Amino acid sequence: MSTNERISVDGHGRVVIGDHAEVTRIARDAAGFSSAVSRHLQVPNGLDGAAHAEMRRLIDPFMDAGAVDALTADLEAIAADLLSELVERSEPFGAVGDLGARFAVRAQSAWLGWLPEWEEPLLEWVADNRVASRTGHSEATAVIAERFDAIIRELLRRRRETPRGDVTSALMALRHDDGSALGDDELVSILRNVTGGDLGSLALCAGVIVHWLARHPEHQHHLAEASDADLDAAIDEILRADDPFVSNRRRARVDTDIAGCPVRAGDVVVLDWRAANRDPEVFGDPGTFDPAGHAADNLVYGTGPHVCPGRLLATRELRVLVRALLRAGRVALAGPAVREEAPAAGFREVPVRVG
Ligand code: HEM
Repeated sequence: MSTNERISVDGHGRVVIGDHAEVTRIARDAAGFSSAVSRHLQVPNGLDGAAHAEMRRLIDPFMDAGAVDALTADLEAIAADLLSELVERSEPFGAVGDLGARFAVRAQSAWLGWLPEWEEPLLEWVADNRVASRTGHSEATAVIAERFDAIIRELLRRRRETPRGDVTSALMALRHDDGSALGDDELVSILRNVTGGDLGSLALCAGVIVHWLARHPEHQHHLAEASDADLDAAIDEILRADDPFVSNRRRARVDTDIAGCPVRAGDVVVLDWRAANRDPEVFGDPGTFDPAGHAADNLVYGTGPHVCPGRLLATRELRVLVRALLRAGRVALAGPAVREEAPAAGFREVPVRVG
């Protein structure tokens, strides 16, 4: 066993790595650690090597700076509408469910070109998925994943009948390097990974950020007036200190050891982004708010070949949402915030009032 207290073994016998240097090393070492950890097809998350690189070349352009810039005016309109709906009610609302999840679904629908009729089924799915991940039961999670796949398959079927000039139709028209079309399983998996990343994580990120703003009223005014770059850096730093995106897995390709802890070829290990983002060896007092000083070591969006392709999109969505919120008035907690339970992180509820 390792003498490093940031390396532990979980109830499934998997080595869990919360040491910043080791998490970074392993995430970047695709030759030593595979991402093929699930028996389900996961595109691009579960691919390795050339197949992974090919998929990233295909999907990354849908989330690059040009794509995100082109979407920004729509995101601003969605955030402004949602905030006025919530503020007009003149009663407290939930930063995760009412604000974060609803904004995420509308923003994603704008990005992918999905019709408003999908909003309620998707929101229901986000809520049920959170309950399932809270239990940590793989069967419950598999049933929820299956339900999501059914939504996506139906969406693809309808889209084939009536093609539109949007991101979903463009994804459906992608070709592998050898000219073959992407299969439905691949498309469903891509959409599951981009939407799963977007919807679930974004709602949790919104909860963490709004909670932090309510607890740090002294930062609200200057962040409302901050430049885009400074606001983005502040958002990254808030998420670093309370990362709601807990972990990803890797499978060792060869016998090795991690900070003195033996790992055999074929063993699954857990990269604990949340713990690594609070490693005192790197961040000193991990609660210190230092956007510029901590930026280079921030692991919220991962690192290495699987680094999050949605980072720019997620950051833009969060920037637009936070600006709209701070413009709407002062943000205060309207009751006790409720934490998510392990293995999930972030908040289940953050009741707030704006005015
Ligand atoms: C909202 C906050 C988000 C957080 C905190 C987050 C975090 C992450 C992290 C840590 C990884 C690395 C996984 C690994 O190394 O195994 C990742 C990968 C990924 N993310 Fe995100 N993400 C977010 C939003 C998004 C969005 C908006 C999208 C797409 C629209 C997205 C799509 C993906 C995909 C497809 C991967 C897999 C990349 C690969 O395996 O090559 N994520 N994300």
